[in-house]
Amino acid sequence: MNCSIPNELLEALRSARFVVALTGAGVSAESGIPTFREPMDGWWARFRPEDLATPEAFARDPATVTRWYEWRRQLCAKAKPNPAHRALVQLERRCRRVSLITQNVDRLHQAAGSQNVVELHGTLWEWRCVRCGQQREERQPLRDFPPLCSCGGLRRPAVVWFGEALPEAALARAYHDAAACDVFFAIGTSAVVWPAAELAHVARQHGARLVEINVRPTPLTSLADWVLTGRAGEVLPALVAALQPPDREQPF
Ligand code: APR
Repeated sequence: MNCSIPNELLEALRSARFVVALTGAGVSAESGIPTFREPMDGWWARFRPEDLATPEAFARDPATVTRWYEWRRQLCAKAKPNPAHRALVQLERRCRRVSLITQNVDRLHQAAGSQNVVELHGTLWEWRCVRCGQQREERQPLRDFPPLCSCGGLRRPAVVWFGEALPEAALARAYHDAAACDVFFAIGTSAVVWPAAELAHVARQHGARLVEINVRPTPLTSLADWVLTGRAGEVLPALVAALQPPDREQPF
């Protein structure tokens, strides 16, 4: 698929003081990590969020919830950054200032080399004790479900569950960046989960141009200045390759 990138978008990026990229599960899909709402194989097609991704589910059945998250974490452990992640690293180098706000919990952006990442929904790579609050990175496979803290409390993944507040600092930074940017990308997100889905509206209300990269329409599509339909792993490399000013052609 040849992705032609509109010249107007390239010019907007070359002149932008500040670019924000909001990413969702669609960016990690090409690394083999299921998205949440794909009709057939999304996480929520096979399981019900209320059975696994809520504080009530954890209180009711901590073993099943932590076993499911550990299964997802092991899937993430095998996943590698894909061309979409790598192209976003290039975008950081080719625009004046880029903020990468992700809903993903797999840390593939950081593994690819992105520096300026805001994790809106936490991360699977850190687990927290619900009794003493001790939170630490967990890189080894878990054996006990639920895992126990040295204080005897139960440990849970440091991700945001449905009905929980997002990390305050991350959310404040996301709203600040959305309000301050000149170009806002919504990449691989269904834009149905708030408050992340509100960021694109905040950006537009503050005068930013909106770009959507997705394989199918979302509630943002009709609001976007540019809609680049296709896989993030194809569209983003084409975009950053085209962004290189003609006089500085470099292999991407
Ligand atoms: N390239 C681009 N977009 C893609 C690709 C791809 N290769 N594959 C799928 N998509 C798109 C889908 O069309 C969909 O719009 O990615 C989006 C994934 O949407 P969701 O599965 O809803 O994931 P996301 O938007 O990240 O969900 C937000 O909801 O369940 C919670 O906490 C969870 O962070 C998650 C949040």
